[in-house]
Amino acid sequence: MADGTSFALNGKTVSYRFHVDNTTGDLYGDHFGGSVTGDIPLESVGDVNGWVGTPGRVRREFPDQGRGDFRIPAIRIRQSEGYTVSDLQYKSHEIIAGKPALSGLPATTGSKEDVSTLVVHLYDKYSDVSADLSYSIFPNYDAIVRSVNVTNHGTANITIESLASLSVDLPFEDLEMISLRGDWAREAHRERRKVEYGIQSFGSATGYSSHLHNPFLALVEPSATESHGEAWGFSLVYTGSFSIDVEKGSQGFTRALVGFNPGHLSWNLPPGETLTSPECVSVYSKDGIGGMSRSLHSLYRKHLIKSKFATSDRPALLNSWEGLSFDYNETSIYNLANEAAEVGAKLFVMDDGWFGEKYPRTSDEQGLGDWVPNPDRFPNGLEPMVKNITGLKAANSSTNMRFGIWVEPEMVNPNSTLYNEHPDWVLHAGPYPRTERRNQLVLNLALPEVQEFIIKSISDILSSADITYVKWDNNRGMHEMPSPATDHAYMLGMYHVFDTLTSKFPDVLWEGCASGGGRFDPGVLQYFPQIWTSDDTDAVQRITIQLGTSLAYPPSAMGAHLSAVPNQQTGRTISVAFRGHVAMMGGSFGLELDPAEMPADDKAALPGLIALAEKVNPIVLTGEMWRLNLPEDSNWPAVLFISENGQQAVLFVFQLSANIDHSWPRIRLQGLDAKASYKVDGNASYTGATLMNLGLQFPFDGDLGSQVVMLEKQ
Ligand code: DGJ
Repeated sequence: MADGTSFALNGKTVSYRFHVDNTTGDLYGDHFGGSVTGDIPLESVGDVNGWVGTPGRVRREFPDQGRGDFRIPAIRIRQSEGYTVSDLQYKSHEIIAGKPALSGLPATTGSKEDVSTLVVHLYDKYSDVSADLSYSIFPNYDAIVRSVNVTNHGTANITIESLASLSVDLPFEDLEMISLRGDWAREAHRERRKVEYGIQSFGSATGYSSHLHNPFLALVEPSATESHGEAWGFSLVYTGSFSIDVEKGSQGFTRALVGFNPGHLSWNLPPGETLTSPECVSVYSKDGIGGMSRSLHSLYRKHLIKSKFATSDRPALLNSWEGLSFDYNETSIYNLANEAAEVGAKLFVMDDGWFGEKYPRTSDEQGLGDWVPNPDRFPNGLEPMVKNITGLKAANSSTNMRFGIWVEPEMVNPNSTLYNEHPDWVLHAGPYPRTERRNQLVLNLALPEVQEFIIKSISDILSSADITYVKWDNNRGMHEMPSPATDHAYMLGMYHVFDTLTSKFPDVLWEGCASGGGRFDPGVLQYFPQIWTSDDTDAVQRITIQLGTSLAYPPSAMGAHLSAVPNQQTGRTISVAFRGHVAMMGGSFGLELDPAEMPADDKAALPGLIALAEKVNPIVLTGEMWRLNLPEDSNWPAVLFISENGQQAVLFVFQLSANIDHSWPRIRLQGLDAKASYKVDGNASYTGATLMNLGLQFPFDGDLGSQVVMLEKQ
């Protein structure tokens, strides 16, 4: 809604308001939080004295640089003359039903019933530069999505040195921030800290969104918990380097910026050209951190992930990586697929090691880039073997096995035919040595010839046999970039490749991966409905990683596998049931082992665990997630998923360590219908009120216990 030059975006329980300051033409923020209606009292800065002038004392919607606001700016432009001052003033606005696409970038989508868009046009008359701020509101999700288009209307080149998709000033001095940090094999650990005076920043300079920090920020009131208090969530729909800055200024406001990493931008903008920022999704919850996550989950399930598999048809799979690694041939891979079928898996995924002609990929030292089957391992190509595997029937079902394959198309080993032929296709900076990580280099996807090569190679593989699943891996960061701007140019090329291939092969179930969760971000989710969450398959550590990931991302998007013991990463031995129960909290349940190597009892448990995973999977894929207890705070982490129509629910409860001579834990549920009655595991029925206020008790005994409980609304 726009009233003159006052703007209001209203959701079910959220209002976002700002106005044009008549004196300066600047946009001032008024409110982002619970619903407000009608006129609002405008904030007054009072008499201004001291070094911080009016621009530094107000809540600015899109803070530009150089005119007295000493806080961190949302945009910094270097003019051809060298100035970095901007004066972006309100010019006009328009309201659009629905949401226009974002040029070349992934974005949330929706019809005009789902979303409407306000575009505010700002203009700097001194430099002839415009900035169009686009705000889309999804009222049913309390979500506001913002992106920015910067256009050079002048006659000389300018450089965009920094650009935040989202910039917001909240009128609170006392907030806490939550982010997701980690590294390889320990992704998505929650970090909660007080917002202090000055700037607190995190981000990625790896070229990708990275394991180190996720492009997500929550700001919460200090007393906020999973189920109480105000929480704002900010999620950047982007896969490249990013930056998130939170600044508490001298006037007590808290500014949040989410966008490009300025260290990887320096974007040259010639006359007549536009730079489009990625979009940032902002959600508000007055029901705590859990409410914030549920808004993001449902928005992403319904309005971000384009795949037809977004919320259905995720077969229980077996992936060959931890079972066979690089060590297989046509016979052993068929045998593993056969074992998978015998225990009830519906999809077999052949991971790394199947390709390379002159440089066969029998280790990570060679072959990347040569996307042809290894002729020693597959003398007749993939087709006959795929035919044999897809001819298998999964146990106790009439379903034929599906077949999937691993690829890492953005990379090349120097030991490869591709690198011999095209050494200039990799990221490199003139004479500087090309640093290898895992013996590989990064192809420059900003180059159209590289994009075409990847599209053709992957299309050829997918057309060569009945392959209906692709795991798309990426195992290193970007080093020697020819220019800082290469990162974003690469992203535009990569999204073009993703878009082309996923549109061409819509029946393929695509899984993203980057040494586990190194690219678990909304940009990837637009094209790939699921992402391998972590290379750490230890079930205890997975609880932390999966619940951390769920802060911003729907459980439907998580790949989670039951692997062998002792665990390859931690050496820990955990019961097969516990391992299975943790894995079935992810939307893509699978096995990552060789059943033939398992103890007989564990192997015998697999069909039952797969059947249970298949039963709970529709609820995990489409339902609402309630994190009841967090592993950071409790010896009894617990998660409840409630189906979309509220008819069914599944509760997962874990005991991490034995608690001798202590009462059995009581888990109180949330999100149920208080008045309704629920049958618990087909036995007794209790009201929602009883289950939420009194809870269920679990008689655990010893270390590492797990329980899965089904609830049926009567
Ligand atoms: C890293 C992935 O995260 C693993 O799951 C596996 O696919 C290996 N790469 C294969 O090289």
